[in-house]
Amino acid sequence: MTLKEKATFMTGDGWWKTYAFPRLGVPSIFMTDGPHGLRKASGSDITASVPATCFPTASCLASSWDPSLLEQVGAALGRECQANDVQLLLGPGNNLKRSPLGGRNFEYFSEDPLLGGKLAAAHIRGVQSEGVGATLKHYVANEQEYERIASSSNIDERTLREIYLRAFEIPVKEAQPDAVMCSYNRLNGVPVSEDPWSLDQVLRKEWGFQGFVVSDWGAVRDRVKGIQAGLNLEMPGSKAYNRDKIIRAVKKGQLKIQQLNEAAAQLLAVVLKLAQSRKPFATFDPVVHHRLARQAAAESLVLLKNEKNLLPLNPAKKMRLAVLGAFAKESRYQGGGSSQVNPTRLDCAYDEISKLAGPQIRLSYAEGYRFDGSTTPALLAESRKVARQSDVSLLFVGLPDSYESEGFDRSNFDIPKDHQKLVEEVAKIQPNLVVVLMNGSSVSMPWLKKPKAVLEAWLGGQAGGGAIADVLFGLVNPCGKLAETFPKRLEDTPAYPEFPGKNLETHYGEGLYVGYRHYDIRKIEPLFPFGYGLSYTTFAYSQIKASYKSSSTPSVHVEVTVKNTGKKAGKEIVQLYVHEQNPETPRPEKELKAFAKVYLQPGESKKVVFDIPEASLGYWDNLIHGRKVNPGVYDILVGPNSRHLPLVKSVRVKGLNNRPLPLNEKSMLKDVIRHPKGNAYYQTLLQATGLAGAIGKGLKKEKMSARERADIEKAARSLMAFLSELPLDRIGGFSEGKFGDDQLRKILKNINGL
Ligand code: BGC
Repeated sequence: MTLKEKATFMTGDGWWKTYAFPRLGVPSIFMTDGPHGLRKASGSDITASVPATCFPTASCLASSWDPSLLEQVGAALGRECQANDVQLLLGPGNNLKRSPLGGRNFEYFSEDPLLGGKLAAAHIRGVQSEGVGATLKHYVANEQEYERIASSSNIDERTLREIYLRAFEIPVKEAQPDAVMCSYNRLNGVPVSEDPWSLDQVLRKEWGFQGFVVSDWGAVRDRVKGIQAGLNLEMPGSKAYNRDKIIRAVKKGQLKIQQLNEAAAQLLAVVLKLAQSRKPFATFDPVVHHRLARQAAAESLVLLKNEKNLLPLNPAKKMRLAVLGAFAKESRYQGGGSSQVNPTRLDCAYDEISKLAGPQIRLSYAEGYRFDGSTTPALLAESRKVARQSDVSLLFVGLPDSYESEGFDRSNFDIPKDHQKLVEEVAKIQPNLVVVLMNGSSVSMPWLKKPKAVLEAWLGGQAGGGAIADVLFGLVNPCGKLAETFPKRLEDTPAYPEFPGKNLETHYGEGLYVGYRHYDIRKIEPLFPFGYGLSYTTFAYSQIKASYKSSSTPSVHVEVTVKNTGKKAGKEIVQLYVHEQNPETPRPEKELKAFAKVYLQPGESKKVVFDIPEASLGYWDNLIHGRKVNPGVYDILVGPNSRHLPLVKSVRVKGLNNRPLPLNEKSMLKDVIRHPKGNAYYQTLLQATGLAGAIGKGLKKEKMSARERADIEKAARSLMAFLSELPLDRIGGFSEGKFGDDQLRKILKNINGL
């Protein structure tokens, strides 16, 4: 490639493709959104796209806790890409949920980096199994929509490493996406699109990323700095604007040609690979994909409440069944923005309920509110009337379309006032009330006590209506669990004081304590905890065993037994958390380290086995600048959700990366005692302060009243506390020069073994 060709290659050819270079036999690749369906523009109207299967959105799919399901959905997306001659899908997204108000929460998996990371990896594996590239986005720290293009996410390194980067590290290492999309925002002041630390040091050098980095659409500010940092492709294309800047920078020696070559080569490798995997005659079966979309939604619905086993409804029983709420006929099934799919078909819950209801069921319907969420006295009156004339009422409420979208955050935590009113009014008349929620992220539920049953149906995609019917009638036993905590009040949420920041600065003040980590440490009772979800059957947990296995990759081996103690076959999501006893640094109470979904017939038991790598038990240590596992005792907690972990077993682990840190002048006397070679010098250093001796003398006095002794001891305790935290470079002063700097240097040299 000539310099001009290379510079041209660094920017897109319009909105959705890379430049082709026929002279060199370099084809162009086509990319499109993402993440839960294909949005390939049809024609020049940017709002029009080809028909494609709209799968459930990420917050719904995540509630399945089922990587194999995500892989199947990913593969179906890959097939639809092939059929539409798309080489790269712009998804999945794996930003985290700091606040329920995040406008794009519906597009993201979880508040937990392990759960989100494993599901993102599965999604990528699925897409890429069809010869299509996946794009992991938006890297990194893009947790809000407000001022998303320029705002700085200000986060300390430990929090980044353990939470926000971790969500990307897992899928990059486990699934090698062909592309990573850098986010719009700045990270600690530096635009991610020009940040060599996140794009090159961490992503490529530390994690071994092999694909190319594409900018989010319009994230490029300084193109030359971007290339230097490791950003390969600018999207959408800027024609000569940035191309010429690159050429000028090379000519002036501001950009090394090697850096441009490297950026072009990384992009070229993926372009060639994806172009070669094209399947020009590929087709997909929309009926099969619709069926998969229904199955995926059904696996992900979360039964939040089910008093007196009101659900499932018996489709063969004589019953007057009222269906209330416009969402039952006009589903809320996906969010707004770049992920908006033009579905191949759209099922509504009402039709699917009527298909499954036997001839004995008399179905009635009332709209309740308009699609925008508002009601009228006439609509309310009609709903009351229909509810009164029913044996059971199903009421559909949630967040209207205008409440949740890319581009802006939610302005409040509630479903519309008129939806709440409807719940309250219908509940007064109808004791057998089931509320079905359609929303992409958690909502407040001040009305929760009123209905007997609540089903969280999320934004379930084009077949979500069928999945709801399947669960309501018990054709599918609900098995989804929350991948995000549902709080009682917005004020209880981790980022409440800081979300969404101000004047282009967002301080991630809650640090590590995102999601359940926050509710745990502050002992805040959530409405529904992370990992929560009911079933039509019951499960019992027993017989935990845990042992430490030392090997070249040491691990903790855990076994538990789970039994279906109810009368229906069902699936249980078994969750394993780890708590470190006596950590030497502040840590979350517990963290999710593994999970498994098991299918059990009534009465059946299964042994569930986990192997937790010892390395994953640790934390990011800012002093050693790496992950560290303290030697000590760790509690392994296993159960059905983050607040109910009946099985506990402690194991002692050896620890990793615990080499003592070298001491220096700033180290304290207490660090000297802790250092294995420091002990021998401790007394010398202590005596050199000239302070410790005075106490000793006082305590040696023979005749002393109890009061005098207590006073001396009190003074001694305080002085010893002072001395133990005295930096070594202060000893010289206290010694009035008797202990010189040279002596200290010599001791340090001996301790550090230099
Ligand atoms: C969104 C991305 C999307 C891109 C292309 C951006 O505004 O943030 O998620 O992939 O547009 O549509």
